Amino acid sequence: MAGVTKSSFGKLKSGAAVDIYTLTNKNGLVAKIMTYGATLTELHTPDKDGKMADICLGFDSVAKYEKGHPYMGSTVGRYCNRIGKGRFTLGGKTYKLATNNPPNHLHGGGPKAWDKVIWKAQIVARPNGPAVQFTYFSKDGEEGYPGNVNASVIYTLTEANTLKMEYAATTDKPCPINLTNHAYFNLKGKGTILDHELYIAAKSYTEGDEDLLPTGKILPVVDTPYDFFAQPAIVGDRLLAAGGKEPNIGYDLNYVLLPGAKGYATVARLSEATTGRLLEIRTDQPGLQFYTGNFLDGTLTGKGGWKYVQYSGICLETQHFPDSPNHKNFPSTILMPGQTYRTKTEYALLVK
Ligand code: BGC
Repeated sequence: MAGVTKSSFGKLKSGAAVDIYTLTNKNGLVAKIMTYGATLTELHTPDKDGKMADICLGFDSVAKYEKGHPYMGSTVGRYCNRIGKGRFTLGGKTYKLATNNPPNHLHGGGPKAWDKVIWKAQIVARPNGPAVQFTYFSKDGEEGYPGNVNASVIYTLTEANTLKMEYAATTDKPCPINLTNHAYFNLKGKGTILDHELYIAAKSYTEGDEDLLPTGKILPVVDTPYDFFAQPAIVGDRLLAAGGKEPNIGYDLNYVLLPGAKGYATVARLSEATTGRLLEIRTDQPGLQFYTGNFLDGTLTGKGGWKYVQYSGICLETQHFPDSPNHKNFPSTILMPGQTYRTKTEYALLVK
């Protein structure tokens, strides 16, 4: 039945209850999002023969999420991706954040990073499909960041078969904000993503150092293994040339997206030949982190007993550039009091 249902997804160790919302659209697509981390836990889409599969990595209990995982399906904030040495200066004051990805800050930091907190949820009316709004109030100083911040994300599973995420945030002190959804996709719902084909609408990328922190340089992708614009390619074909430290070889870099007409564009297309599934990513964001699950090592067992080995899933995280607060040449990520941060990203769930 099309619509939204709410159910219990268990409890955290603290006893706090976690709910899960199931969105079903008229075409029978299903998305599940839980209040812990406003996390996308399942996404069921048809293949070319109409056969459904869950194309997102994740776990079947909240205990497994709480035990720790690399942001599978999470809403990541206040600042997704890396901030160099966990430090930035704003209004003459230097702020210190957790260096949870030594020597840098990653994905909002420690226990109060937004993927690890419980968001409030309410079913909302949207003209184009079933929707749920998640809200979180982050106190001044939480994870070292300045300002009381009210954040929200509305997930809508549209009748056009897109999962849309609309983010908003306000603050009472200047603060960097950079939100993303960290879904790991596998269009077969099993195996690895090495056989998936990818297009990215970018002619350049932000160069990273050995800890994946931007050097500040923006380099062209042409004639590199990073070119998925002039040369859409099978992900596995050039993977060994993509960089990374042994054994974590693979893609893990931020693309500088080509600006779309009206500020909103299709920025990536991921497809898989045997199922015919095609995922199109649309966004208004300037950057996209492309990550091939290089750090997955088979120690986590996900839904249905699936062992998450290296390259089990692919992340295409729409965002601002990493470490923007420390790079004046990158688009600003500072939200000011009185302003509202707004951004949207859509996963179009198509078949070829
Ligand atoms: C980063 C990776 C990181 C992964 C999981 C991605 O967004 O680019 O370097 O390992 O998140 O934390």
